[in-house]
Order: sequence, then C-alpha cells, then structure tokens
Amino acid sequence: MDKHKTITGFSKLSKLGKIKWLVENFFKDPEIVMHELKSYWLADVHQQEVLDGISENTISNYPLPFGIVPNFVLNGKTYAVPMVIEESSVVAAASNAAKFWMTRGGIHAEVLNNIKIGHVHFYWGGSPARLQSIFEIVKPILVKASEPLMAGMVDRGGGLRSLALKNFTDEEPGLYQLFAEFDTKDSMGANFINSVLEQFSSSLQDFFKSSDLLSEAEREIEVIMSILSNYTPDCLVRVKVQSPVEDLGEINGMSPLTFAERFYHAIRIAHVDTFRATTHNKGIFNGIDAVALATGNDFRSIEACGHTHAARNGKYQSLSNCTIDNNLFKFWLEIPMAVGTVGGLTKVHPIAKRSLELLENPSAEELMMIIAGTGLLQNFAAIKSLVTTGIQQGHMKMHLINILNQLNATGYQKQAAAKYFEDKTVSMTAVKNYLDSISKS
Ligand code: MEV
Repeated sequence: MDKHKTITGFSKLSKLGKIKWLVENFFKDPEIVMHELKSYWLADVHQQEVLDGISENTISNYPLPFGIVPNFVLNGKTYAVPMVIEESSVVAAASNAAKFWMTRGGIHAEVLNNIKIGHVHFYWGGSPARLQSIFEIVKPILVKASEPLMAGMVDRGGGLRSLALKNFTDEEPGLYQLFAEFDTKDSMGANFINSVLEQFSSSLQDFFKSSDLLSEAEREIEVIMSILSNYTPDCLVRVKVQSPVEDLGEINGMSPLTFAERFYHAIRIAHVDTFRATTHNKGIFNGIDAVALATGNDFRSIEACGHTHAARNGKYQSLSNCTIDNNLFKFWLEIPMAVGTVGGLTKVHPIAKRSLELLENPSAEELMMIIAGTGLLQNFAAIKSLVTTGIQQGHMKMHLINILNQLNATGYQKQAAAKYFEDKTVSMTAVKNYLDSISKS
C-alpha cells in the first residue's frame, strides 16, 4: 500500500483541497492538471453547485457530447431527440435512420402497460398456508400504514396497484416475499417505491411482534431487505417501423428485396446466437442509453431490465424482431422500460431539463416511446450497415476525425486526410505517416 495515496477526511476537503491533494499525489504535472480540472468548472457558480450536489466528492465536471437526432417522427409527431454519448457514429447513424423512416410513416409506438414492482424479502419458519392466512389479516394494515406516504402519488392518479405474498420455500427454506405493484405516473418512482416498501417492512415486523393472533413461535420473522425491482416486465413499450419492401428503395447499392432478406437474416442470427445477440442488443442500447442519459434517466436500470427481458425465454436473444410477409417489411422492438419525466435528475440537471423541454415536456409514457424508438432506429442503422457496406465505413470517418484532432491536425491536413482515407483503412500509424508525408511534400 502506498501510504501517501491514502487519506482520511477526503470528503471534508474543499473542492480545491481535493484537487490539490490528488494532483500532488497522483499526477506528474500538478499545475497543468489542476488548471485543466478547474477549467471544466462552470462559470455560473449556482449551476456548478447544482451539479456538485448531484454526487459526492466532486472535483470537476466530465463533459460528454450532447447531440441531436432531428427528423424523428413517432406516432405522427416530429421530434428533435437529444443524445449524450461518447461513441462516434451513433448520433449520425440514428439521424440517418430517422430521416430514412421519416418518409416511410415514421415510428409506430405504443405503451402496453406501466407498472413498477417492489419487494420485501423475508424469512419465516411456519407453513406457507399459515402465512397466507396471516397475510390476509396484515395486508390491510400494511396498506393503511403506507397511505400517508402514498397520498401525493394517489392525488396524481398513481399509487399501489396490488400487494401479494409469494412463496419461495421450494427453492430456499423459509423464504417469502411481499410482492407489490405500483403505478408511479410520470416519475420513475424509485424513491417512492422504496419508501413504501420500507414502511411495509416495519409495519409487518410490528404486526408479528405484537399481534395476539400469533403464537409465540410464530412471532419470529426476519426481513432481509426491501427494494424495488429494476425488472419491470409490465412496464412495456412497443415500437415498430414498416414498409412495403419495394418502398425501402435501393440501399447502399443493394436491391430492396435483397436488403430486406439480409436484414431479416441478421435478426434471426441475433435470435439464435447469444454472442451475436449481445452485440446486437448493445447497438440498441447505444440509442436507448444516450437518450436516457440526456433526459436525466437511470440508464443502468434500463439496461439491466432490457437484458433480463432479452433472456426471459431462458436464452439471451435479440430484443428486436423482423418479418417479411406479403411483401411487407416489419421491424419492431418490445422492451420494458421504467423512466420518469418528473423527479430524480430530470428537473435538477440543467441540460436534462432542457432535453425534456426540447421534447416538449413529454409524459413518462411518451418518453418510453421516444427512447425505445431511438433504440430501434439505432438497431436499424447498425444492421443496415452490417448487411450492406460493413460497419467500418461509417465508423472510420469519425475515427479519422478523432485521430486528426488528437494529432492537432490543421484544417488543410484534415481535408486532405479525409480525401486520402476515403478508400483506405484508418489507424493512428497510417494517419501519422500520411501527415508526415504531406508535411514533407
Ligand atoms: C457498436 O457500438 C454497435 C454495433 O456493434 C451494433 C451491432 O453490431 O449491431 C454496430
């Protein structure tokens, strides 16, 4: 262990104090790094305080590109969709697909349901039948005790939708679960659900401790935890694009029918082969995560949920589907997704707030459709490239720009390199060699 790299009370240091300690102990050029980290502080002190308040031990901000997908038509409405993502080509690919589908009816979307789930996991030594009869008595007590916490949500039309007892004793001796379903309206609802679950847990334990209906032996209950589930199979959105095959037009030099058939096979491969399904779904999440992040939503929970859904049949498979029937090409995605347009970061993060404004302050259900729609477009763009030109053609353009920026190329060098590398493979060495060669000539 390096003693000088450990510290007590880091969180108590001022922001500058934290940076000073870090640059002195971890960096070769303390002055330069200090200057650089400070240069990313926002000029607006209030806005910076807001950002600092979002996390802990903050020392600076970490900028990521904030891009826009225009011409995004969903259910007849046109959006400009915000995306935050570090990977080149993602926004360009989604924009390309948005434009393609804009003239072919856009995305058709619907939210199938919007139910969130939470559990109180506990152990109890008695029989399932006896616990079920106790549950019938305790259930109204739990519901009543949670009413004050639920009042605001109920006013907004949401609240608890069901409360049941689940028995896991076949798999794990003594294990039961309170299984609660919620409607959290336009909020993602994590804090609300967790607070209600903790209330259920404490009321449950109080009942077991004090009820005259239980024998001494029955009083022992051990609640292990109370937490929402990020798997929300009944918070499901479906997005679809479709077109008569001939209206797809020639795609990257390929006839519409050949394209449609190759596209269909690419989707089949992602249903059959889990290795391909992982990459395929990753492409979908390129779109989903980027809009989730831009709108202040929790992209980790959305991903976790989507991947569980992809494995719901016991095998990890493609989230998207394709058919060609009677000359009609259909491509769709069905995915559970818990998002919010109120609460959480949505109104706190200055840019998330603007992203939602850009989307004309959608409801959570509208945002589910927009996010899933972006995933669908992203998937379409990736598969379109993969089954026609290959993926590198599009990627390489952005890769080249990034390399040229890293090498501090001038405007003239960038233009010349773009032309030169049109038909050549881009790599750091190849670009360096090319820049050397033109500077010599
Ligand atoms: C790259 O970020 C995403 C792709 O690999 C997705 C895919 O292969 O479908 C292009």
